[in-house]
Amino acid sequence: MMHARTLTRASRPITKCTLLQATRFSSKWAKVPGGPPDPILGVTEAFKRDSDPRKINLGVGAYRDENGKPYVLPSVRESEKRLVSEKLDKEYLPITGLASFDKLAAELAYGEDSKPLKEDRVAKTQSISGTGALRIAGEFLYRMYPGKKTVYVPTPTWGNHIPIFKNSGFDVQHYAYYDKDTVALDFEGMVRDIKNAPDGSIILLHACAHNPTGVDPTQEQWRTLSKVLKEKDHLPLFDMAYQGFASGDAARDAFAVRHFVEQGHEIALCQSFAKNMGLYGERVGMFSIVTASPDERDRVESQLKITVRPMISNPPLHGARIAALIMGDAGMRSQWLAELKGMADRINTMRSTLRHLLVDEHGSKRNWDHITNQIGMFAFLGITPEQVSQLLRDHHVYLTKDGRISVAGITEHNVRHLADSIYKVTG
Ligand SMILES: Cc1ncc(COP(=O)(O)O)c(C=O)c1O
Repeated sequence: MMHARTLTRASRPITKCTLLQATRFSSKWAKVPGGPPDPILGVTEAFKRDSDPRKINLGVGAYRDENGKPYVLPSVRESEKRLVSEKLDKEYLPITGLASFDKLAAELAYGEDSKPLKEDRVAKTQSISGTGALRIAGEFLYRMYPGKKTVYVPTPTWGNHIPIFKNSGFDVQHYAYYDKDTVALDFEGMVRDIKNAPDGSIILLHACAHNPTGVDPTQEQWRTLSKVLKEKDHLPLFDMAYQGFASGDAARDAFAVRHFVEQGHEIALCQSFAKNMGLYGERVGMFSIVTASPDERDRVESQLKITVRPMISNPPLHGARIAALIMGDAGMRSQWLAELKGMADRINTMRSTLRHLLVDEHGSKRNWDHITNQIGMFAFLGITPEQVSQLLRDHHVYLTKDGRISVAGITEHNVRHLADSIYKVTG
């Protein structure tokens, strides 16, 4: 039938009327403007097009092993093997995700003896990794936060923070964070801006391994920040995408989160297991909020469900099972924590090697201490956009325009070419 009708139409002569129809039904997307490429993924695309064997991709924020290859943690492989052997079903998870995962993820962040966890007053929901947790935060806080709909983020911050909160309806404002001249934290500016924000503002804080600068407040500075936020009745919204990845010690990297909670802040927290378990594409994360009582927790959690249901219905199963099995089994957990430390140690060794080559071998007159002082996956080189372009154009070294390199992409094989190149463009 269909075939016969199509033939009849096709054989009709083209009349003025059919031409008019064609114009009227031209594509609905004809006026959609092409958007700019994602700044980070754009770096990888340019890297792929380069055929020079010396090329190095330091744009993408994913760990690479000593041979520059993606790394699946042996504990993750083991967990997957066990899960497959159990022949589990693939039923939907509840809206707030896998309960065992939520519990263990919360203990990892807040600490097993955390008071609000013991008192059952932390509302939790599994999320699509850290980005999904931030998105739930945006949607939930926009609907339920009693204060002004403004989020303060550091300058600079992870690029996605701004559209995530704008898309949720928030006004996004900035607080000082990084001082280009000293290549270090602008703590005075940070405190000044947080104090100047209207009482009860939402302050987004990178819990550890600040992206993109790799510059974190000291524990003493975190203590001061906790007091300042308390005085101002601000809501601390922690983004913890690198727990354990920064220092190699998951408890140490959770210092800020745990200190704020001990000081009585009702924090909101976004967690990601992309980096610390290497579960990037599995999209494993959690959003949680500390509340005042189990009853309040219940009500908040009911609203989290109402937030999550129309966004994703319910979160993915496989990655959460992998993470829950690892965190819940004593043997696998200690294996994972050792592997996590191994990744952090390799990154720190690469930091020292790069600094050593620049300072001791090349005799660079610049101060490169920040390479080893910074923490986590990234180093902010403190170089100009012109020097970044030179690295790309003349030396096949790919990094983001702001001069950020992913230290996880440096290996024993490419560190010499990298140091030579940085030395040449910085003089
Ligand atoms: C600061 C920060 N927050 C959140 C994320 C979220 O990552 P994901 O959604 O892969 O967990 C990242 C990833 O690079 C990040 O750097």
